[in-house]
Amino acid sequence: MHPMMMLHIVILAATFTAAQCFQLNMTQFYEMPPLYDLDDYDRCLQELSGQRSTYCFVRAEVQPDESVAAWRAIAEISQYDRHHFDHRQLYFGLCLRECEASLAGLNKSELEALEAGLLSDNAKVNVYLDLFSMEANNRQRHQRLTNACLNWRLQRRGFGVLAKSVVEYCDEAGHQVEDDAWNLTFYGILGTLLVLACLGSLVDLHLKRGRHDKMLKERDHYKTPPKSTAQQVLLTFSVARNWYRLNQEPSGKIGRELRFLDCFKFFAMFMVIFAHTNWVIYESAISNPQDPERLLHTAAGTLLVSGSLITVTFFVISGLLLTINWLAVSRSLSSKRDTFSFGQYALLFVKFNIFRYIRLTVPYAFVLLMSGVYFENAGGPLWRHIFEREQLACRRNWWTNLLYINNFVRTDERCLLQGWYLAADTHSFVLSLVLLMLGHRFARWSKQLYAGILGLFVVLPGVLTYAMNYYPIFVPTPQTQKDSFIGDRQFTEFYTSSIMNFGCYFCGVLAALVYDQLALKQYKLRESKGFQFLWFSLIPVGILWLFSAHPIFQHYYVHPSAIWGALYAGLQRNIWGFGLAAFIVGMASKVGWIFRKFCCLPIFRILGRLTYGAFIVHLLVARIVLATVREPIYFGTGMMFAFIFFTVTVSYLCSFLLAIFLELPVSSFLKLMR
Ligand SMILES: *[C@@H]1O[C@H](CO)[C@@H](O)[C@H](O)[C@H]1NC(C)=O
Ligand SMILES: *[C@@H]1O[C@H](CO)[C@@H](O)[C@H](O)[C@H]1NC(C)=O
Repeated sequence: MHPMMMLHIVILAATFTAAQCFQLNMTQFYEMPPLYDLDDYDRCLQELSGQRSTYCFVRAEVQPDESVAAWRAIAEISQYDRHHFDHRQLYFGLCLRECEASLAGLNKSELEALEAGLLSDNAKVNVYLDLFSMEANNRQRHQRLTNACLNWRLQRRGFGVLAKSVVEYCDEAGHQVEDDAWNLTFYGILGTLLVLACLGSLVDLHLKRGRHDKMLKERDHYKTPPKSTAQQVLLTFSVARNWYRLNQEPSGKIGRELRFLDCFKFFAMFMVIFAHTNWVIYESAISNPQDPERLLHTAAGTLLVSGSLITVTFFVISGLLLTINWLAVSRSLSSKRDTFSFGQYALLFVKFNIFRYIRLTVPYAFVLLMSGVYFENAGGPLWRHIFEREQLACRRNWWTNLLYINNFVRTDERCLLQGWYLAADTHSFVLSLVLLMLGHRFARWSKQLYAGILGLFVVLPGVLTYAMNYYPIFVPTPQTQKDSFIGDRQFTEFYTSSIMNFGCYFCGVLAALVYDQLALKQYKLRESKGFQFLWFSLIPVGILWLFSAHPIFQHYYVHPSAIWGALYAGLQRNIWGFGLAAFIVGMASKVGWIFRKFCCLPIFRILGRLTYGAFIVHLLVARIVLATVREPIYFGTGMMFAFIFFTVTVSYLCSFLLAIFLELPVSSFLKLMR
């Protein structure tokens, strides 16, 4: 291992120096037309001068012209497509009144020279056009004017290129929001939840008053279950009771030993929100695109790209928890008899799936419903592009999310894009449960079975990468993020596919099995010096592993060789998952010194429990904040962190409300059903 690591470090050092050599020629950069040109939205719609004023959001694509410096710059800079935006794609926010004024002095032949035609062959733009199909009328009416207008601007500013364009949508002053069936459903459900919460809380208060037991402290009242079933059902909605449930100490030995997972969940979620807020900033408008582009050429850029490994954390934890549950249930049943019949397995399988489905889906469905609600908003040129796109996609494709097939069905019109994780997790859950049952039924062969499955799902991603010619890592390029991952084959087939991620989930399953065996044999992992060393060395090795994508990502001109690429694709996530599994088993056996103490702090108990809610709601929050931008925003560290902290805070607050009013009632209701 030692010489291997040395070699790795040498390679890394060499590639760092190579990457730092990349210089963006800024003279050339400013020869290109800016990516965003947005007229003053509020002035356009508020300054009414007789006729109706209209503001159109237009997508344009610069047409090739080798004789012009601007085109040569675009071609040169956009060829680094993993690091740079596609500078052919321009956004225009045009106030039609101003367009008419600027074109008024031109005669017919001059106007014709400015028309470059309709942009119709850009598949990603067409997805938007299809979603905004109600704008077909505006699109036709304003096509010629907007195209001539934006080309006039490109000419006047001396870029010399022409662009084809298409209107995405137009806004007019005095737009009113009408409540339709979708909105009314949402308000109805919201009202019902509030009424139930009030009712539950009042009943709870009444019961507490009626209890003349001086010995009982206030909090004890909220922790004791009521007697009648009707009361029990009503009290699931009691706010005070749910607050105590949220705060509850983990019960049992396993619960206490795995307490640190809450901290893992919180920090992993922080990273996910970090990455996603960045993405939504890319989706809106940036005044200095050169800075994120330059950042991606550095080691920090590599970290951003391989940061997608964070998602693996959730797969591992999820596999672990499923297996622990399964072991507990199967043990308590088999203490009564030795073997299960096929019917018993089937019953358990259905039960596990139904309980999980209800627990996850009820809050998820509520957020889906919320994502489709039209409401009064501050608008802005990009509002509909960023936010209404989501509303329309959710109204069209909510069912793919509820069936958990959204990571392979209708992937161009994703509603709640982060939902791919839940789909992949569900598929992994079902498959793992089947495997655990097989392992239980054929206990003699279980070791071979598990080893075989792990091997298969490490090899499979590699083979698929080789056969389908995928890139060895998933690179969320600036342009991909700006296009909201539409039409990105690598994202859909490589990154979010369940097959590609199952290996990591299964590492979690194995971790739980190992942990269980250790507990049964009362083996003290903590007393093994070798394991201690291994555990602590996982931390630096993990950081190095993040950088292992550096040579591939920063390799500018040559495609990495197919065999090595496939090998890396098979290993990147799985080794991370495997290491994490070992890390978790270690920590559960009380290895970890102050890291473990820190992770067990009580604050993470609440934050960890709010993670799921924050996960399903955070993109909505980020979108609401960023969709109101009027002008391109400056992309800098301060600005970025301001947005990120805001999104994190609001997501956790929303998640808190969601937990108190919906998630916890549902989970305690399910407990009653058991
Ligand atoms: C930068 O680009 C400009 C314009 O294309 C060119 O004249 C200049 O030589 C370039 N500078 C370098 C250092 O390549
Ligand atoms: C339009 O205007 C341009 C410049 O002002 C002139 O050269 C051209 O002849 C005019 N064309 C017509 C058809 O009037």
